[in-house]
Amino acid sequence: PTVRPVDLPMEDVLVIAHRGASAYAPAHTIAAYEMAVEMGADYIELDLHMTNDGKLVAVHDPVVSFQTATRAIADITLDELLLYSPGEVFNKENPQYASDKYEVERIVELKDIFQHFSMSTNYYIEIKSPDQYPGIEEELIRQLQAHHLLDTNDQPPKVIIQSFHADSLQKVFQLEPTIPLIQLVRFEKEASFTKKELKRLKNYASGVGVNWDAITPAFIETMHKEGMDVHAFTVNEEETIRLLLTLGVDGIFTDKPDLVILLRDEA
Ligand code: G3P
Ligand code: CA
Repeated sequence: PTVRPVDLPMEDVLVIAHRGASAYAPAHTIAAYEMAVEMGADYIELDLHMTNDGKLVAVHDPVVSFQTATRAIADITLDELLLYSPGEVFNKENPQYASDKYEVERIVELKDIFQHFSMSTNYYIEIKSPDQYPGIEEELIRQLQAHHLLDTNDQPPKVIIQSFHADSLQKVFQLEPTIPLIQLVRFEKEASFTKKELKRLKNYASGVGVNWDAITPAFIETMHKEGMDVHAFTVNEEETIRLLLTLGVDGIFTDKPDLVILLRDEA
């Protein structure tokens, strides 16, 4: 029998804490993720890269800037990466939310995030730059299995995997078709797919993650007719959040999960 992508039968709008509650705490740190969980976010969102010694880490950029040099994560070991202080950078850039306690925060290994939060949250994981990290899909699935995160039938699902790279998602689908997959797409103009593109997407994806300013009512209507969910990234302004809730998106990536939860529950 043909294996089909997972359906995401959720009624409420998912609140996806983009890099944690990253408006208020250094992105991708345990502090930012803890804040997001305490606020009641449905998911913590994390971007994945792999160090030179094969460790999966949650961080957005493929490079980190130290005082003396900028280094690619793919070229340095975890120990070298741990010299970077995301809290110091955050404190300088965000004096209104700065705190001494953030200075001990470090870039975190995926396995430590799983260990820390276990089943207490849901994980929305982005595979970044898969071409640079051969085997990243297998290692991600191995870690999800090791932490029993694929053993539940919870709704919303414990784990969603997202990527801009269709080939990486297709690989995950081949390896583990029970995980819902979100194809990320950044549109320059109004979001739309050709019939051929939609047919291809529906072979592996449960939905799409789209830059919010490209989303139109017609796009949402088409995607919903096709049984595909639409998640909007990345939305922090009250007016825009209200607009997207009215349009009927299925999920919102936000640096301010508290604000989206407030507006969602009001709506
Ligand atoms: O993953 C959705 C959104 O986060 C994509 O953009 O650059 O923030 O990872 P980026
Ligand atoms: Ca992301």
